[in-house]
Amino acid sequence: MELVVIAGGFGTRLRPLTLRRPKALIPLLNRPQVLHVLDRLPPDCDRVILAVNYLYERVRDFFEALDTDVEVVVVNEPEPLGTGGAIKNVEEHVSGTFAVANGDVVDTIDFAALVKFHRKSRGVGTIAVTPVEDPTAFGVVALDGDRITRFVEKPQETEAPSSLINAGRYVFEPEVFDFIDEGRAVSLEREVFPRLIPPGLFAFREAGPWSDAGTLSSYLESQRLLLDRDGGGIAKGAEIAWDVLPPVLVADGCFVEARLGPHVVLGRGCKVGRCVIRNATLFDGASVDDKVEIESSIIGEGAAVGEGAVLRNSIVGDGVQVPPHTKHVGAKVDA
Ligand code: GTP
Repeated sequence: MELVVIAGGFGTRLRPLTLRRPKALIPLLNRPQVLHVLDRLPPDCDRVILAVNYLYERVRDFFEALDTDVEVVVVNEPEPLGTGGAIKNVEEHVSGTFAVANGDVVDTIDFAALVKFHRKSRGVGTIAVTPVEDPTAFGVVALDGDRITRFVEKPQETEAPSSLINAGRYVFEPEVFDFIDEGRAVSLEREVFPRLIPPGLFAFREAGPWSDAGTLSSYLESQRLLLDRDGGGIAKGAEIAWDVLPPVLVADGCFVEARLGPHVVLGRGCKVGRCVIRNATLFDGASVDDKVEIESSIIGEGAAVGEGAVLRNSIVGDGVQVPPHTKHVGAKVDA
């Protein structure tokens, strides 16, 4: 069975980190995000097809240099074709019933159970769904038993037919290709799912703990999910001189005097002075001076945060220098 990973979006909500880096390669627990998807393959999956558009060469080169257990084929879309068009574009690489994953979703789904459910329900497609408190930012399903009777993308609060949302994991029969127009951008959620309802679209309700990693807050939620599930750890080659509130993950070559945690990830070679960091990530080679406070933020690769600065709910771009004693709340800090 093939797994198609839809990973070609611009990732605008994670800018400036995605200005020079495809979202699929954004580090999450110090590994490119897309590798977390490859950790949880469907049963009998022998090939992964990555549908990529934005910064295709970066993704291709990354996988060319990587040893993987399964064959990975990176397919370029010369123009962005949307989530549905991306699937149509890889039709020739698919040989039978196939699975699809959004490249920016972190979850605990049992893919084998999803595939088994799909085969039993005999629809054209199955969507894994999960309940959330506020479904308005997602695709929401109405159900009759397990059969989807309506799919509404990002509904108004009063129009959400349930609290069950699309968890970004699917299984399709090849028949799905007949429902996607060729040669133009097509939205899977807005155009294809509604068309699949009459022939048979089903909902698999056991998606399990789930988060997409497409915004700052959902990225940090994914990080918490993974740290709570797998635990963190401090690399042997890291030096920690103060206090750690687990779970935290600290890579090799870090020198840290800060109070860290919980839910903090430091990439390789970060230098961190006497400061406080909670619920945050520093990418490789970032440095943070004394008396800094960082909360719910991402600090880009090689960025430097000056003494006494405060960062909350903010993203700092790669290589950016944050001046001392400045305060950033809900900011995107770029050079
Ligand atoms: P934002 O710009 O922040 O909305 O992010 P995004 O462009 O990644 O869009 P979104 O999060 O809605 O996309 C959901 C999934 O579909 C992600 O894994 C994207 O990488 C992927 N995706 C979105 N648009 C395209 C496209 O045109 N082509 C391909 N191949 N993938 C896409």
